[in-house]
Amino acid sequence: MSKSYPRLAPDEAADLIENEQTVAFSGFTPAGAPKEVPKAIAARARRLHAAGKPFRIGVITGASTGKSLDGSLAQAEAVLFRTPYQNDPDLRKSINEGRTRFYDMHLSMLPQAVRYGFLGPVHCAVIEACDVTVSGEITLTSSVGAAPTFCHTADKIIVELNRFHPDALRGFHDIHEPEDPPYRNPLPIFRPSDRIGAPTIKVSPKKIVGIVETEALDEVSAFRQVGETTSRIGQNVADFLVAELQRGRIPKSFLPIQSGVGDTANAVLKAMGDCAGIPTFEMYTEVIQDAVVALMRQGKVRFVSGCSLTVTSPVLRDIYDNVDFFRSKLLLRPQEISNSPEVIRRLGIISINTAIEVDIGGNVNSTHVLGRNMMNGIGGSGDFARNAFLSIFTCPSTAKDGKVSTIVPLVSHLDNSEHSVQVIITEQGVADLRGKSPAERARAIIENCAHPEYRPILRDYVAMAGGGHTPQTLSAAFGMHLVFANKGDMRSVDWAKFR
Ligand code: COA
Repeated sequence: MSKSYPRLAPDEAADLIENEQTVAFSGFTPAGAPKEVPKAIAARARRLHAAGKPFRIGVITGASTGKSLDGSLAQAEAVLFRTPYQNDPDLRKSINEGRTRFYDMHLSMLPQAVRYGFLGPVHCAVIEACDVTVSGEITLTSSVGAAPTFCHTADKIIVELNRFHPDALRGFHDIHEPEDPPYRNPLPIFRPSDRIGAPTIKVSPKKIVGIVETEALDEVSAFRQVGETTSRIGQNVADFLVAELQRGRIPKSFLPIQSGVGDTANAVLKAMGDCAGIPTFEMYTEVIQDAVVALMRQGKVRFVSGCSLTVTSPVLRDIYDNVDFFRSKLLLRPQEISNSPEVIRRLGIISINTAIEVDIGGNVNSTHVLGRNMMNGIGGSGDFARNAFLSIFTCPSTAKDGKVSTIVPLVSHLDNSEHSVQVIITEQGVADLRGKSPAERARAIIENCAHPEYRPILRDYVAMAGGGHTPQTLSAAFGMHLVFANKGDMRSVDWAKFR
């Protein structure tokens, strides 16, 4: 590691950033996101605000980050613009109250949107690394995200050198940036384990304006214990996949799995691991959560290609203590490769993502509550669902203690359309939508996936719809949402009032 770059205190690094500049941070989820520099930028914002001066920055990341980044900056009222996915409560509030402009986008497209200049200039990149050489080779830590593109497009780079992550991480990353059109070449990935790039990001050393040292841990929170509902969802997914395998609609050797984010996704993977009928498999996914590492330990997952190691600290410690075990089984790629439509379609991925709500036509809302308030963002769900061999969405049939049905007549916001969604799975059962007309889809979703308390309500809605190709009544389509907004419980909907 070089001694030649200036060592900076976090405050000195923050002083290099001016009001209304755009800063791109490494990281994909809290994994690999800088911690010290963003906290110092937040402190700088507070000082300037106290002196009556403006200070807010544009924040571009790979996906969500940790509390030191999105949390600190949002609390300091320092986020002017933010893209893409986020999940911090303070930032979410700032977005939903209109104080931060948020641009939600498919994660595979973020790096090229930066390269094409669609998001404006990147004034500074702040990159967490476990090593940086005199010649400008940067070894990333627990994620890749969009860091290669940020390094290549930013005017200057601040490296946050994190000593928690061992130098031995070199070799876990496969760094490749596709050429821009019209000269783009195919990505030669034919198996999840295929490497196409370099272990490090290479930049001109002149771009690196300083190094901030830290040992701070990734701020990944623990998952909720698998509960009865999520465990039943997981079991239904596993049973469905076994049945597909037995019918010969999934090859005997199985197909690579992509699994989404959150508690439900974690529970689904656990159930797949416990299911004897599912053979060992590989994963070509975006986020590698705790459950994946457990499956690698069990031997159920042979290889995983992902974009981030979003695991809790004890699990990351285990990986670092057993680098030799994991080195041949784990690869981290940039998000435009881990989520590449070309590769997803070629490998024949089985994608399993989580919905906030699903409508009776099979449209999925992954992002908004009651059509207005942003939860997190579309993440990679669109990248995978649109291009998968088999695209599955899961969710509990109800939310908010049963006052909300996640199965509704029409989604209040659309992220993944009926054309990208093939199978819906709740704790109630499975609706296989392949080859079904809208009326057949509605029947399958209501009878197999909706909670029994909501089935009569949804049947009445369909009966009210009358003719047409798709069972909808425009005046009533959001009736359940409106009743929840006004009375706090979707069960009190009275369709007669919406005819
Ligand atoms: N209406 C209102 N609130 C709802 C709701 C609905 N229809 N469905 C869920 N919620 C609430 C839950 O009550 C919960 O709120 P709480 O935190 O106050 O308890 C919250 O939303 C999260 O729900 P939960 O069931 O715990 O979800 P999760 O941890 O499994 O995450 C998503 C679900 C959809 C938010 C998450 O998967 C996501 O952000 N997905 C989009 C991105 C994506 O799919 N990425 C993966 C691609 S690789």
